[in-house]
Amino acid sequence: MSGIATQESVYQTEALIAEDIDAYLDQHQHKTMLRFITCGSVDDGKSTLIGRLLYDSRMIFEDQLAALEADSKRVGTQGQEIDFALLVDGLAAEREQGITIDVAYRFFSTEKRKFIVADTPGHEQYTRNMVTGASTADLAVILIDARKGVLTQTRRHSYLAHLIGIKNLVLAINKMDLISYDQARYEAILADYTAFATSIGITAFTPMPISGFKGDNISFPSENMAWYSGPTLMEHLETVEVGVDEDQARPFRMAVQWVNRPNLDFRGFSGQIATGTVKPGDPIRVLPGGKTSTVSRITTLAGDLDEAVAGQSITLSLADEIDCSRGNVISAADAPPETADQFESTLVWMDDEPLVVGRAYWLKLGTQMVSATIREPKFQVNVNTMEHLAAKTLELNAIGVAELSTDRAIVFEPYTQNRTLGGFVLIDKISNATVAAGLLHFSLRRAQNVHWQATDIGRDAHADLKNQKPRVLWFTGLSGSGKSTIANEVEKTLNLMNRHTFLLDGDNVRHGLNKDLGFTEADRIENIRRVGEVAKLMADAGLIVLTAFISPFRAERDMIRAMLPEGEFIEIFVDTPLDVAEARDVKGLYKKARAGELKNFTGIDSPYEAPNHAEIRVNTVDMTPAEAAEYIVRQIMPLK
Ligand code: ADX
Repeated sequence: MSGIATQESVYQTEALIAEDIDAYLDQHQHKTMLRFITCGSVDDGKSTLIGRLLYDSRMIFEDQLAALEADSKRVGTQGQEIDFALLVDGLAAEREQGITIDVAYRFFSTEKRKFIVADTPGHEQYTRNMVTGASTADLAVILIDARKGVLTQTRRHSYLAHLIGIKNLVLAINKMDLISYDQARYEAILADYTAFATSIGITAFTPMPISGFKGDNISFPSENMAWYSGPTLMEHLETVEVGVDEDQARPFRMAVQWVNRPNLDFRGFSGQIATGTVKPGDPIRVLPGGKTSTVSRITTLAGDLDEAVAGQSITLSLADEIDCSRGNVISAADAPPETADQFESTLVWMDDEPLVVGRAYWLKLGTQMVSATIREPKFQVNVNTMEHLAAKTLELNAIGVAELSTDRAIVFEPYTQNRTLGGFVLIDKISNATVAAGLLHFSLRRAQNVHWQATDIGRDAHADLKNQKPRVLWFTGLSGSGKSTIANEVEKTLNLMNRHTFLLDGDNVRHGLNKDLGFTEADRIENIRRVGEVAKLMADAGLIVLTAFISPFRAERDMIRAMLPEGEFIEIFVDTPLDVAEARDVKGLYKKARAGELKNFTGIDSPYEAPNHAEIRVNTVDMTPAEAAEYIVRQIMPLK
């Protein structure tokens, strides 16, 4: 019966295509789009449900349909009936054979709307996939197997959907046919879920009893559940409001994607409006700079507009020639968003390599890209029980709350108010992998109250007085490679040349400033961060600074490089093979490490990442320390 009605609508559509293709295309183009995700495992009937939706909207091609009917009969999982799960799982298998896609997206369309459904796997090890799928979704369908009720994974999925800010939740209590369409059982599950949802701050959701397999309340009201008077799933998906009004009611914000300057007469700023509306004549403010102007023109591919609203992609022209580039945010002049460089955030860790506290990652927030370091998490959330647990790091699929700081102020809004200006990803600087998704909560007040104090005697004045150009000569290499010895030789030579220098040595600094640090990855990173800050202060004071630290990680050496003016950081790789350093074993530490008496020893059970592009490399097998020092001094000339 349901098939016949759907068939009719297909005929109508086909008739329209045949008679008036323009009318059809017009109708199709003006349909709104709903992006949604389905949460639940295959056992909950997720594949069957998606298969049913595709089937009812006739998005299955004829040949697939014939194959499906044949497969269903052959496999016999559902007697002579069609097993919709075979369709979706078949597509999933296809995906597994090919390139791995994290989330499978499917498209279908009805007369009223277009849909993109993200099919996200249910198990805990797929949390990152679910977060990826959820990050662009307007709605989530949480599936429950009516025979099983609210399960751990129902709670986890609801928590994640809520965390990601999906406002429209559908609680689809499925497989009603298998509990004889029992209203009392449905009500009991609903009461159970309501109690949980309230406890985590979900204030509204739409419950419905369905059977994906039998088609009850999917596209057609069920004759088996006269007691249910709410919408069918399809009806709800076709008509639900998707928060556009709410976005429009907020102040105007648009992140600039690119500056459009086709000729000297036109300069426009292109981007998608995140929130609010804009009209020619509106006063605006460009952040982070804060300069103001007024909108002179709104251009789109379809012509100029008198007004543009959240969600639209536009090009804005301004009345004044003011600085504005990619990554800036244009906002309503009287209601600008905040700018800050320290935040509290929630992180969802998505990489096999755990979070390294203190390491610099790229933080990408819309079109803004900055360097960010994460502090030790305040806590991690057990996604099954919502308990807060102590954590030193975050591993794959872990969700935690941590403070972070960026090297430049960014324009933001709390994620709960603005997904575009509050949601970000972290990218590993070396592998370029996206390692985490994050949500900004708020900026830290302590950052707001600490301002940079300008002093009159700047770094140039300090350097001029010493008649030299400041440098940081950063020696890196294995323990026993000869860093300290060579650095000492270089300093002696510079001293004879009347240069103002200072040598920071690993073992010495670890007796004072860094005596609280050991040799774990996190401690070494903090060691190098502090030494980098000190070296920078000394360079600001006009000195030629020499540092001798193993500094085993490329990421931190690059971080120090980025802290200093171009050309001031000189990386010197003291290239001594492990077997040579070990044979020398000046301090007897290799022997201890080999005997297992010293843990985390560099080169033995802790890594050393050799520089890829060191300015200077010295090979201590072929050169004596004095020769190496002389070579280095020649390389860094002239000193002014
Ligand atoms: S770094 O890795 O954090 O840059 P740093 O240069 O400060 O190390 O300190 C290295 C010195 O500490 C070595 O030269 C050695 O004398 C001593 N040391 C003690 N334990 C270790 C260890 N587990 N790994 C490396 N060096 C160690």
